[in-house]
Amino acid sequence: MGSADDTDGGKTETDVIADIRGFWDVDAATYDNSPSHYPQRPQEQAAWAATLRRLLPDPPATVLDMGAGTGFLSLLLAAQGYEVTAADISTGMLARLREKAAALQLSIRIAETDAAHPPEGDFAAVVERHLLWTLPDPAGTLAAWRTAAPAGRLVLIEGSWSGRGTSAPDLLRHHARALADLIRRPEPDHHGHYSGRIRAALPYQAGPTPNEVVALVEASPWGRARLERLRDVEWAVTAGRGLLDGLLGTHPRWAVIAGS
Ligand SMILES: C[S@@+](CC[C@H](N)C(=O)[O-])C[C@H]1O[C@@H](n2cnc3c(N)ncnc32)[C@H](O)[C@@H]1O
Repeated sequence: MGSADDTDGGKTETDVIADIRGFWDVDAATYDNSPSHYPQRPQEQAAWAATLRRLLPDPPATVLDMGAGTGFLSLLLAAQGYEVTAADISTGMLARLREKAAALQLSIRIAETDAAHPPEGDFAAVVERHLLWTLPDPAGTLAAWRTAAPAGRLVLIEGSWSGRGTSAPDLLRHHARALADLIRRPEPDHHGHYSGRIRAALPYQAGPTPNEVVALVEASPWGRARLERLRDVEWAVTAGRGLLDGLLGTHPRWAVIAGS
């Protein structure tokens, strides 16, 4: 990717970031309505909490949550005794995070910033969930995160929403869920879609595959990567939801981990 001043069809990278911020400022009002964004069933929250505890250093480690949004990871981490800094580009998303943290009486530091410019610090870990697909320069951004945690750990939490890069059985279930949704017509996850111009600036706009993320991390200053499928979370999402959801399953969740 080019620098912030490079132009692309008359649109600079700075303009694209401004458009992305605008999208999320609007999405903030309804983002948490989607159960895949903000799962509220106790069993799902507990599975996510256990997964984070397993993947991260012991609390009270300092954790930087990049693209924290309305705070799903940040709140779970703070509740487990981590010292959390939540960073995001969107004022609207961070406002929701602030409200939720206050309601739960959790203390979370907030940094409103582009992911390419992480807050200064010597964090024990950097985490993200569902941010990579919307970064114009994922390689440069990962390199910048290393400077915020020179001796720390990287935990990237992603999902195979588009079916790209999944196994044949997972792809079959992906298509079956798409067919079922034609009939069930669930509420959309977002208020709208990114424009073509934003999408054209994002190398992983279709959702990165595990292979792509491992390669990206291993080419970055984080070095050797580990990949884990988050089956406990997938189980907690479908358990108790009935026969059809049990058969259709949910999209694969996975994490790429690097550093110490
Ligand atoms: C799909 S949401 C994920 C939010 C949260 N991590 C979660 O798991 O619910 C993507 C988030 O990334 C933020 N974001 C998008 N581009 C960003 C950038 N360049 N720098 C920082 N945050 C960004 C958006 O504002 C939004 O809050």
